[in-house]
Amino acid sequence: MCQEKQKTKGNKGTFYITTPIYYPSGKLHIGHTYTTVASDVMSRFKREMGYDVKFLTGTDEHGEKIQTTAKAYGMEPKAYVDQMVADIKKIWESMEISYDIFIRTTDEIHKKGVQAIFQQLYDKGDIYKDEYEGWYCTPCESFWTETQLEEGHKCPDCHREAHLTREEAYFFRLSKYQDPLIQYYEDHPEICLPESRKREMLNNFLKPGLEDLCVSRTSFDWGIPVPFDEKHVIYVWLDALSNYITALGYGSQENPELYNQYWPADVHLMAKEIVRFHTIIWPAMLMALELPLPKKVFGHGWILFGEDKMSKSKGNIVYPEPFIQRYGIDALKYFLLREFTFGQDGNFTNTLFLQRYNSDLANDLGNLVSRTVAMIEQYNEGILPAAKAKEPVDDELKNLAISTADQVEALIDELQFHEALEQIWKIVRRSNKYIDETTPWILSKDESQKDRLDTVLNYLAESIRIVSILIKSFMGHTSAEIQKQLGLQDASTSLTWEDAKTFDKIPADTKVKKGEALFKRLKLEQEAKELAAANEAYARKILKVTDAKKEDKKEDNKETAASEPKEEITIDDFAKIDLKVAVVKEAEKHPKADRLLVLQLQVGDEIRQVVSGIAQDYTPEELVGKTVIYLQNLKPIKLRGVKSQGMIMAAEGDGKLGLLTVDKDLPDGSSVS
Ligand code: MSP
Repeated sequence: MCQEKQKTKGNKGTFYITTPIYYPSGKLHIGHTYTTVASDVMSRFKREMGYDVKFLTGTDEHGEKIQTTAKAYGMEPKAYVDQMVADIKKIWESMEISYDIFIRTTDEIHKKGVQAIFQQLYDKGDIYKDEYEGWYCTPCESFWTETQLEEGHKCPDCHREAHLTREEAYFFRLSKYQDPLIQYYEDHPEICLPESRKREMLNNFLKPGLEDLCVSRTSFDWGIPVPFDEKHVIYVWLDALSNYITALGYGSQENPELYNQYWPADVHLMAKEIVRFHTIIWPAMLMALELPLPKKVFGHGWILFGEDKMSKSKGNIVYPEPFIQRYGIDALKYFLLREFTFGQDGNFTNTLFLQRYNSDLANDLGNLVSRTVAMIEQYNEGILPAAKAKEPVDDELKNLAISTADQVEALIDELQFHEALEQIWKIVRRSNKYIDETTPWILSKDESQKDRLDTVLNYLAESIRIVSILIKSFMGHTSAEIQKQLGLQDASTSLTWEDAKTFDKIPADTKVKKGEALFKRLKLEQEAKELAAANEAYARKILKVTDAKKEDKKEDNKETAASEPKEEITIDDFAKIDLKVAVVKEAEKHPKADRLLVLQLQVGDEIRQVVSGIAQDYTPEELVGKTVIYLQNLKPIKLRGVKSQGMIMAAEGDGKLGLLTVDKDLPDGSSVS
């Protein structure tokens, strides 16, 4: 738990909400924060409503992908995930995420729980041993049948190459739960929401038929061992899904108090791509364990960048840090939950963010608060006046303001965060219109209108007070600041949700206090440039850190490789290598990598482009004109976006690098053998 906890009243019963447990295989980006921010708002709101809330998040640390990533950094998997998890916790801290439990799948309590679950399913006969032959997508940690794959054996989820695996494995009798699941969907429509996803699950997966699921692997060892057969590790998804109950002590404690108190979960939140695991495999596992199923599984849409989902390989990642630093956490949370319809995909752009910031936050809300407080200071010496002479327009504002809390409550319950915020902003916009309609600056000039002016100021303050209560779970700082400016800081601890349903809550003679602008208005064009530069600089910094770690590892590998004798080869093996004499015609620095140079080589009649990691030992100028030895039949690749056709040969020793050449003047294109 990384933030001061709201007071838990807990008189309405329990409320258990979860996010997915994230892979610590890369730095989390805005997409990940979306689910967690939504869960956080829901948790805060439910606490506010008097529920005893448990909010669970965590990390999914096992599996082939993590093991491979750790290796790329030259680290043991546990040491690698430890540092990644520390960073994830830091992100949640900076976003003031009010989680109660952070589960790591490497925690003892979880490992013990998963082994107990596996054993229980095996003892029941729902897990059996067989041989698996099929396709596996490592990045998604998903099994696929040949027919499910896309053209060229690509994973239908992430579109990367899957590979054929054949190994002895344990299987979970998923097929046995096909009919019970279909029946369960009929009886409990909330098991998969929104409705469109439920139809997808039913039509694309459940009705066509379920196959038994391979739930163990032997080709790597970074996982939880099968308790009775240690050469197998438990399939990551069985491991990961179990977190929702192991975090409550299921399987590791005799009589787990938290489990008894909080399970079944009220909401599992996630994006659409993993709904399948949560609405088919997880419920089937629970059925097999004879445990209650979660009450609601909600799959929201993806935050997209252009046409694409944000991903490291596409290089279109946006991180939350620059937004938090520049605009504060409330603005980011507001934008994420207001801009995108929860449940559907949405496009993220800086422009959209900045426009919403200016229009909704700086203009609508910020202006309303600063104008109101300024008018109370100017026209009534800063003392909030009581309402006296009413007109119909006052009732219109009041009725809108006091009726919104019930709507917001219902909308948050349905996870319609964007709509809840829209309803709140209706009060904000109506209040601004009310100022224009009642023209307090004119009333202030006529002593006989004093009662009317007092009423207007009072109604504005009451409306703003209600807004401050309604936004509290979304934007805690802004809510507190509004209450402070209204002179309600003492009342703020005691203002409750119920107080948003009535007027006349501001004590007589309350003194307002003008403060800083809640949200400073931005100059859009200039700001867009600065934001883009800040995002880019941040992304570059992240890339640099990751690259540097990988480079260090490569250096280590080179040293080990140099000192160890290699496997014997035949002359035929050597004959496969096509080495040529070449002359460097041009050389320049790589635009994106300090260690690399881009060379144009003359090889007989042809010019070949090679990207070479020699920038620390040679300047481009000293290379031009040099004769080098060139490996021409190496498969071309792109190095940091620049095509490289082969490589030039160099020797390394004593921390220095020397290029290979010939000791006579031979024409370029000559063969080396
Ligand atoms: N480890 C699994 C989950 C196991 S849960 C038992 C996993 N991890 S993940 O790190 O890939 O996180 C996926 C989740 O991150 C999505 O389901 C979603 O909640 C969030 N998002 C990641 N990128 C996102 C977007 N671009 N847009 C919206 N949500 C995104 O899958």
